[in-house]
Amino acid sequence: MSKFNPDKYDMQTRSIRAGQSRTQENENSEPLFLTSSFVFDDAADAAARFCGDKPGNIYSRFTNPTVRMFEERLAALEGGERCIGTSSGMSAILTTCMALLKSGNHIVSAKNIFGTTVALFNKILGKFNVSTSYVPLSDYNAWASAIRPETRMLFVETPSNPLTEIADIQRLADLAHENNCLLVVDNCFCTPALQLPLQFGADYVIHSATKYLDGQGRCIGGAIIGPAKQMEEDILMFLRTAGPSMSPFNAWVFLKGLETLNIRMQAHCRNAQLVAEWLSTRKGVKRVYYPGLPSHPQYELAQRQQSGGGGMVSFDVDGGRDRAWKLIDSTNLFSITANLGDVKSTITHPATTTHHRLAPEERQEVGITDSLIRLSVGHESVNDLIKDLDAALGQALKI
Ligand SMILES: Cc1ncc(COP(=O)(O)O)c(C=O)c1O
Repeated sequence: MSKFNPDKYDMQTRSIRAGQSRTQENENSEPLFLTSSFVFDDAADAAARFCGDKPGNIYSRFTNPTVRMFEERLAALEGGERCIGTSSGMSAILTTCMALLKSGNHIVSAKNIFGTTVALFNKILGKFNVSTSYVPLSDYNAWASAIRPETRMLFVETPSNPLTEIADIQRLADLAHENNCLLVVDNCFCTPALQLPLQFGADYVIHSATKYLDGQGRCIGGAIIGPAKQMEEDILMFLRTAGPSMSPFNAWVFLKGLETLNIRMQAHCRNAQLVAEWLSTRKGVKRVYYPGLPSHPQYELAQRQQSGGGGMVSFDVDGGRDRAWKLIDSTNLFSITANLGDVKSTITHPATTTHHRLAPEERQEVGITDSLIRLSVGHESVNDLIKDLDAALGQALKI
């Protein structure tokens, strides 16, 4: 669609220029095509487009020029052949599974993934005879032992939500390919600004565009990036038939989000690093989870695989749920919300929100305690954020 050759340019330039396709109006900012369908020259033209003899848009459930610009830009950033936008991050995961798997197949997934993804695997895919086994994210023997003849997909989020555990993507990709499986990586926490899973051998990358790709907490969306042939034949076929397509309006917002992705991610990393370092020194904080801290169990791997620690910091307060809730309720600057990746800092209690659907013993097993708090560190002044946390921690320690 666009003449821009992403291979010739740096990431920062790609995030602003890739995918743009000007109309005859010669606009500088990308146009928003709010149209559900497209008009044909005549009946023969319609027939040719419908049967695939002629390229071109038909209906926005299939393709839309604004969505296409977003897809081209994100593909250029991830270094993938083709990207397809979806209506949400969850529908990106559902689409990938429905398009690439069939009844009787098996998934091996890291235990420590977004709670709704676990529910999708167990409660929805399970109904269609696709089963899932869960393994500790960095126990590579466990990954290898869980693979069965019918396993077709390894699924991982790295860094994981909310404990920022890191998986060695190259190692998992090698294991997947030795066993005729695909490796799917949810790159939501890092984004292509900090980590390129395809470069380490992953087959597909998933995004919740809702998070850092938007970056200002406005729209719900998702994306899948992978090899062109399978994306066209399997993923797009599922999407245009089942319909979890990205809205053009949301695609336009995400396109604008991608333009500032690099500089936003740098600012998230800077602020999160300072908050994590500060939390590590506080009385009343038992443990801090942040890949940029040398105390992080996979610090070396994070340094190799990521170009920054990211914006997510989790920590355990000394005490139980009441103390965690008191701290959360005592903050003034942090928004109490389950979303993340916003320029506004957010604070969440994973055990009773994002991960409440896990049974208590499942949460226990993956380390999501009642005293765990997750921060998505935004772009407010870091001094103000630390002052706010300091006051809130003081209040929490009184109970
Ligand atoms: C790591 C991760 N993947 C996927 C999703 C799902 O994305 P969405 O809310 O856009 O459906 C989330 C949402 O929080 C997430 O944190």
